[in-house]
Amino acid sequence: MSKLYGLLGCPVSHSMSPAMHNDLFLHYKLNYYYHAFHVENEDLEMAVNGLRALGVSGFNVTIPHKIAIIKYLDGIDGVAANIGAVNTVVNIDGKLKGYNTDGDGFIKSLESCVDGLLQNKKILIIGAGGAARAILFSLEAIDVHAIDVCNRTLSSALQLIAECSYKLSGSGISIIDAENRLNEYDIIINTTSVGMYPNLEEIPISLTNLSPSTIVSDIIYNPLETKLLLEAKRKGSITLNGIGMFVNQGALAFEKWTGIFPDTRRMEELVINKLG
Ligand code: ATR
Repeated sequence: MSKLYGLLGCPVSHSMSPAMHNDLFLHYKLNYYYHAFHVENEDLEMAVNGLRALGVSGFNVTIPHKIAIIKYLDGIDGVAANIGAVNTVVNIDGKLKGYNTDGDGFIKSLESCVDGLLQNKKILIIGAGGAARAILFSLEAIDVHAIDVCNRTLSSALQLIAECSYKLSGSGISIIDAENRLNEYDIIINTTSVGMYPNLEEIPISLTNLSPSTIVSDIIYNPLETKLLLEAKRKGSITLNGIGMFVNQGALAFEKWTGIFPDTRRMEELVINKLG
């Protein structure tokens, strides 16, 4: 049976999701097709109802619709509800159900370079926006307890930590406080856009107190190595770029749609080739 999948966003022309999913559909011999739909804010409701009416099997959601889409869906799962954002929708017998695979995608990618249990690690998240929410609530969902959030605007970090369950032992802190106690963390995760192309010389936090045993990760994948990662590597740390999160959020969406967890190495090679 043929099926249609898609991406709703604005802009979508540079998205790598269509190439990634269409390559997987071919690879797994599925007669499915994935199309990127450019949808403006004011057309979102109409677009979602149109996809429901047409019986589209599922879709991804990207900037700027991840939050706004929720009110047009028939239901969302618990992690997406905590995060307050949806990036993947599955059509189940005509009902559109929303999920968020961003945080779990990041965790899958992180697990590939962490020695031992994530649950025993002390983690610092830099940033308190949508991506930080997704990662924080996904870490909380797998019982990681020691997570601090630092942010340029301290009040947003405090607010985000306040939304977590009583089990979380972390705090919202300033960037300066985080810099001073940087050597306490096993894992540091940058979720801000600081260092993203074209601002290659920007760094979200000073690494003066970084311990070489700390893993430093960035959700940015353009460039593949941000200044944060280059400096961390120079200081002896293991680093992780944002390709893994992008690929794994896509892999988890693909699994929800098809029941197959796809070959992420293949996906990663395709994305890196496309990035040139
Ligand atoms: P996303 O959904 O990608 O996480 P967002 O919700 O706009 O994007 O959040 C962006 C995050 O990056 C915020 O934590 C923001 O800090 P503020 O809350 O202080 O705005 C952070 N950020 C963006 N640009 C920054 C900069 N130049 N310096 C420091 N932090 C920055």
